[in-house]
Amino acid sequence: MTFLDLPQMISASGNVRLPGSKSISNRALLLAALSDGVTKIENLLESDDTARMREALRTLGVEIDAADAGNWRVHGCAGHFPVRRAELFLGNAGTAFRSLTAVLACSGGDYTLTGVPRMHERPIGDLVDALRQLGAEIDYLGNEGYPPLRIRGQGTGEKKPDGNVVRVRGDVSSQFLTGLLLALPLTGMETTVEVMGALISRPYVEITLALMARFGVPVERHGEQSFTLPTAARYVAPGTFHVEGDASSASYFLALGAIGGNAVRVEGVGRQSIQGDVRFVEALAEMGAAIEMGEHWIRASAPSDGQGLRGITLDCNSIPDAAMTLAIVALFAKDKTRLLNIASWRVKETDRIAAMTKELGKLGARVEAGTDYLCVTPPDAEHPLRAAMIDTYDDHRMAMCFSLAAFAVPLRIDDPECVAKTFPEYFRHFARVAQPAPVIAIDGPTASGKGTVSSRVAATLGFHYLDSGALYRLTALAAQDAGVDWRDEAALTALAAALDVVFQAGRVLLNGKDVSDALRGEAISSAASRVAAFPAVRAALLFRQRAFHRAPGLVGDGRDMASVVFPAAALKVFLTASVRVRAERRCQQLLEKGQSADRAAILSDLEARDARDRDRPVAPLRQEADARLLDTDALDIESAVAQVLAWWKDVRQRDMRANR
Ligand code: DC
Repeated sequence: MTFLDLPQMISASGNVRLPGSKSISNRALLLAALSDGVTKIENLLESDDTARMREALRTLGVEIDAADAGNWRVHGCAGHFPVRRAELFLGNAGTAFRSLTAVLACSGGDYTLTGVPRMHERPIGDLVDALRQLGAEIDYLGNEGYPPLRIRGQGTGEKKPDGNVVRVRGDVSSQFLTGLLLALPLTGMETTVEVMGALISRPYVEITLALMARFGVPVERHGEQSFTLPTAARYVAPGTFHVEGDASSASYFLALGAIGGNAVRVEGVGRQSIQGDVRFVEALAEMGAAIEMGEHWIRASAPSDGQGLRGITLDCNSIPDAAMTLAIVALFAKDKTRLLNIASWRVKETDRIAAMTKELGKLGARVEAGTDYLCVTPPDAEHPLRAAMIDTYDDHRMAMCFSLAAFAVPLRIDDPECVAKTFPEYFRHFARVAQPAPVIAIDGPTASGKGTVSSRVAATLGFHYLDSGALYRLTALAAQDAGVDWRDEAALTALAAALDVVFQAGRVLLNGKDVSDALRGEAISSAASRVAAFPAVRAALLFRQRAFHRAPGLVGDGRDMASVVFPAAALKVFLTASVRVRAERRCQQLLEKGQSADRAAILSDLEARDARDRDRPVAPLRQEADARLLDTDALDIESAVAQVLAWWKDVRQRDMRANR
């Protein structure tokens, strides 16, 4: 399992070309496959969900080949899949599973449809009930009402006497109605579909109807709940079909613009879009964001009145996916946001109401959830947000929407690759658009004065300060207190992961007790360098260190700031002095405190610690190729601080010139 650590972001700006819409891509693939003729599909989304659909169609005998860059050619089978018996694996692609179930039930043949374990927990009974009315024979191979399924279709030739009215429930997933509508032309009959119960996520049905019309099958509507397919309807390839950008994917970048200040523009969706999720911009605008829109682009930025975002109360029935993005934007508003009518969240990639509540809670946000709603109260001085490790539940939208919370606090996103379901390039776009708080990394050997220099640089710039060595010292101290052996890597790692530590105005509290002086003792110093050689201990302390990476900036001091913890640091300094000078400084410090100092012992102890830090296989102490060397043998603290600040000014000026 991998993770992605995001520092606190301070601004966002730029332009993102959106990948193709998932909903449109999978419908277009299926309709092109069922059509008479060849369809060239442009800007098809390339992601896990569309790969599952493409594989399935190929297994069914449909020829699909790559045309020019990013485009595909589908050779339609005119409603008759060449392969009449097959087993299809559809992963967790709900659009593919529901629509293929309906299409295969109406096309004859003998098929088995399976998915990942979560797919087998997502309901499909309402669709199966509807298809059985048409004479399809469908068996549940696992639990009643859920995939996997065995489907023996009725075939296009046989007509049921009462087959011309089909009833389907619309209040669990709109994909049941979508599947049925897409499949009905294969029966060759004039059929009316009646939706029972309220129809949720209606905009997705609109996408279905728009695509069917494009592929030659106009559907007649009678009011909100009834649809009639013409007699002898058949799909005809439209020649070239262009997939517009994904409106749900757009929501993350538009939210970045609204939260992050400067304008973020997305290309590929706009006023002309047939996707319901473009209405997400109305919600953002209601929260106060500044929105501009063209035919095929949208731009969002922070409220222009300088008043900040406002909380809203919204019925999210028509934008269930993009509404997840609003739950995170809510953290940046002045008052409470209420997202209503989101019961469908419970049957998506995960139970999204439960997942959202739990993970927002880890950030310290105040959340109230019910069967079909979620309320988020933004943080305040008494309820600040805190850095957290976010689980994503194999749900691409959890990963994408939580990345926005990095504008409030540093985060660890677990399993970031889950975005491949619909947006494999998401985090690369995010990194281009969102600007992290800057870091100055100062590494060097023990007793080189880097702690004093680093904390003074931080104070001058108003930045946060991380004394990473203190975390290794704290681990050693906690081990001493708990009677844990300094060679016991597993026990030390557990202690490191669970350290209850507060850094407060230059003091360090461990389990509520001030241990600032205890940390500096010679025995703990020596133990710290032993503890620090264990890879698992270092891994356990990694996120704790990155959680210091907050606005407006950070100065981090240690051994591996530049190499491991903050490899993207804007300025890297290697601060050192000869071991003799360092030993002399250490003696002076002890004498000033009225303690005795044994020069020879201090010198040999420093040499031993240097060797351990330098020669260990993980994160050894060394000067990085892009770090500037600051040798303090002949420099006092003031001069060293002045040099780092001068370098920092350089770096800022260079960045400003580059951005101009
Ligand atoms: O900087 P310091 O002397 O307080 O560090 C104490 C020990 O912790 C040192 O011997 C090496 C280790 N350390 C480390 O391995 N990596 C860091 N980033 C900081 C300290």
